[in-house]
Amino acid sequence: MKATVFGTGYVGLVQAAVMAASGHEVVCVDKDAEKIAKLEQGIIPIFEPGLEEIVLTNRKNGRLRFTTDPEVGVSHGLVQFIAVGTPPDEDGAADLKYVLAVADTIGSLMSEKRIVVVKSTVPVGTCDQVKRTIEARLSKRERSHIPFDVASNPEFLKEGSAVSDCLKPDRIILGTASSETEAIMRELYMPQNRNHEKMIVMDVRSAEMTKYAANTLLATKISFINEIANLADILGADIEMVRKGIGSDPRIGYHFIYAGIGYGGSCFPKDVQALIRTGDQQKYDMHLLKAVEARNATQKRVLLDKILRYFDGNVEGRTFALWGLSFKPNTDDMREAPSRAIMESLWEKGARIRAYDPKAMDECRRIYGDREDLILVEQQEDALDNADALIVATEWKSFSAPDFDEIAAKLKSPVIFDGRNLYDPHQLKRHGLDYFAIGRNG
Ligand code: UGA
Repeated sequence: MKATVFGTGYVGLVQAAVMAASGHEVVCVDKDAEKIAKLEQGIIPIFEPGLEEIVLTNRKNGRLRFTTDPEVGVSHGLVQFIAVGTPPDEDGAADLKYVLAVADTIGSLMSEKRIVVVKSTVPVGTCDQVKRTIEARLSKRERSHIPFDVASNPEFLKEGSAVSDCLKPDRIILGTASSETEAIMRELYMPQNRNHEKMIVMDVRSAEMTKYAANTLLATKISFINEIANLADILGADIEMVRKGIGSDPRIGYHFIYAGIGYGGSCFPKDVQALIRTGDQQKYDMHLLKAVEARNATQKRVLLDKILRYFDGNVEGRTFALWGLSFKPNTDDMREAPSRAIMESLWEKGARIRAYDPKAMDECRRIYGDREDLILVEQQEDALDNADALIVATEWKSFSAPDFDEIAAKLKSPVIFDGRNLYDPHQLKRHGLDYFAIGRNG
C-alpha cells in the first residue's frame, strides 16, 4: 500500500520506517529541510535501537522516501498520517497549529480520495477539527466532491524500544466510524496484526481519549510510587521491598512502579498538563492529575535535597560525577530529563559536573554548549576523577554493576546518590560507600 507520513519525529519516522519494512511504499514529509537532507543521506536525527538499520535498508530499496514537498506527499499515499508535534502552548494545552497546518495542506493539495489518520497525541475533538479544516479547504477550491475520512490512530511506542514496540504493538487503536477506513487500515497493519488480533476499533473521540488516559494513568502510577517512596524514607521502610510486595498482586503488577527522580521525556509531562487543561476548559477539575504533576515536580528535587543535606547545604566548589543524562536508557533524548534539574540546581549553587552518558553527550552539548562547570567525559569511570560524590540519574545497563572499590577509592567523599535505586545498600556499605537512593534510606 502507499502511505504518506507528515512529520519525521520519533513517532512519524519510526511509523514510516516500520511500514516500509512491512512492505508498504512510504513517503515522509517534513518542512525541516536540513533534517530531510540528512535523512536522504542516511543520517538519522535520533538514536533509537534498530531504527538506522531499517531506515537505511528501506531507503535503499526505494520503499522509504523523504521530501520537503507536501505535494509529493499528498499525491502519494491513500493513507496520510499526521505525526507532527503537539507541544504545550503557554497555558499547557496541546498546541494544534502544526496538526491543523498539515490538515490544511492536505485539503489544499488532494485531488483524489484520502484517508487522513491522526497519529499525533491530540485532545479529544481534534479529528473533528481536522475534518472541518480539510472540508473548508476543499470547498474553497470547489472540490467538495473529493471523498475523504479522518481517523484517529494514536501511537503507544516507548522511546528506547520504539522500533520493536511499533513492529509488535500491544494494541492498535483505531477510531473511525467508516467500515471502508477500517478495512484499509486493517490492510495497512496486517503484518502487525497477523498472529493475534491487536486492533481495537472504536469511535474517534474514544480513540483520542485512550491515548491520554494511557499516558496519564502511567504517570499516576509513577507519582504514586514516588510518594510512597518518600514516606518510606521517613518511616524506615524500603520501597524496593514494598514494590515487590505490591507487584505480586496481578491487579497491581510489577510494571511501572519503580520509584525514582520523577518521570521525564516528551510525553508524560506534556500529556498530563494537556489533560488538566482539557478539564479546565470543560470546567472539570482534574484534582488527581494536578497532584500527579505536583508530585513529579517535587520528585525531581528529592535527590538534590539528599545531596544538600549530606554536604550541610554547601556544595559550592564541589565536583559531582554524574552518570546518565538522558531521561531514560536507550535514548539520547534529554527533554524534561531529571538530570537537567539536578545539574542546573547544582550549577546555581556553584558546583561543577563531570558527566557521562552512553548516548546523550552530543545532545547535552547542544543544550548547554561550552561551560566551565560542565565536563563531559568519554568513559563512565573518568567522571569519578577529582569528584566529591557520584550521582546516578539514568538506569543505563553499564551503570548497574560498576567497580565499587574503584568508586570508593576515587571519590573524595565516598558516597553515591542514586536516583534509580540500582544498587544494594548493604553491598555498598561493605565497599565503604555511603548510599542514598529513593525510598530506601530509613
Ligand atoms: C511514554 C509511554 O510509556 C508510551 O506508551 C507512549 O507512547 C509515549 O510516552 C508517548 O506518548 O509517546 P516514553 O516517554 O518513551 O513513553 O517513556 P517511558 O518508558 O514511559 O518513561 C517515561 C518516564 O517515566 C521516564 O522518565 C522513566 O524514567 C519514568 N519511569 C518509568 C519511572 O520513573 N518509573 C517507572 O516505573 C517507569
